[in-house]
Amino acid sequence: MSEPNPHSLKLGVNIDHVATLRQARYALMPDAHNAEPCLVAAAHESEANGADSITIHLRQDRRHIQDRDVFELREKIHSKLNLEMGNTQEILEIALQAKPDFICLVPENREEITTEGGLDVIASEAAIEKTVKTLQDAGISVSLFIDPDLNQIQAAKRVGSEMIELHTGAFANAEPAGGEAQFLLLKQSAELARSLGIQVNAGHGITMTNLPKLMGVPHLAELNIGHHLVARGVFTGIGRAVRDMKTLMSGYGHVGQGGEGSSMT
Ligand code: PXP
Repeated sequence: MSEPNPHSLKLGVNIDHVATLRQARYALMPDAHNAEPCLVAAAHESEANGADSITIHLRQDRRHIQDRDVFELREKIHSKLNLEMGNTQEILEIALQAKPDFICLVPENREEITTEGGLDVIASEAAIEKTVKTLQDAGISVSLFIDPDLNQIQAAKRVGSEMIELHTGAFANAEPAGGEAQFLLLKQSAELARSLGIQVNAGHGITMTNLPKLMGVPHLAELNIGHHLVARGVFTGIGRAVRDMKTLMSGYGHVGQGGEGSSMT
């Protein structure tokens, strides 16, 4: 077997919606022996097919991932655990106990269907800086989920975050025809972040259809993908969905595309 390319684009598989499916039936029976689908099995299947990390979002409303999932996955997965969280004291305390490998701070509001828009780092600079430092002191690498906005990237640098995750939702929604302006913003943002020494990840709304164009964005280290993999997995199985995505991602960094061995990890 050949050595994995250390500069290849990594894939974080977000399994929130595996939990969404389980909660649809078993939310009121958390200890049911027959609760399914099993998150650990979904994580293992993803890892066996190329996932570099497993991503989960412990929301304040606990609509999909539950506290016990965080600890169970922390114990049982073989790859890295990336926990997405809003910047609240309650979730911070759980994060410090569970000690995921990475934390991605995201904005959260109770009414939203999914994470809408990036974190406004500028508006909450002091609070975010404090949390970033607390997490880093606990040995956890921190990412901030932000829109492709140059001012927010400068703020991410000021608060000491070592990674950002560029919100690709607006790009994904505008594609296939109208994503050019968003694509250019993503490109400029990745270039600025890279020049500031910040690792660039990306996520939200990424599919097999919009990924080829997104791969024109340089300096990407990791993509976090959830909904499309789980949705496609209904038909193909999640392992196959992850494998196909990873195969498509393996073209990143080839001549004429972004990357060029730009990953910092
Ligand atoms: N990254 C972040 C920060 C998110 O909040 C989400 C959605 O949970 C994702 C990536 C994955 O987005 P999607 O489910 O659209 O692939």
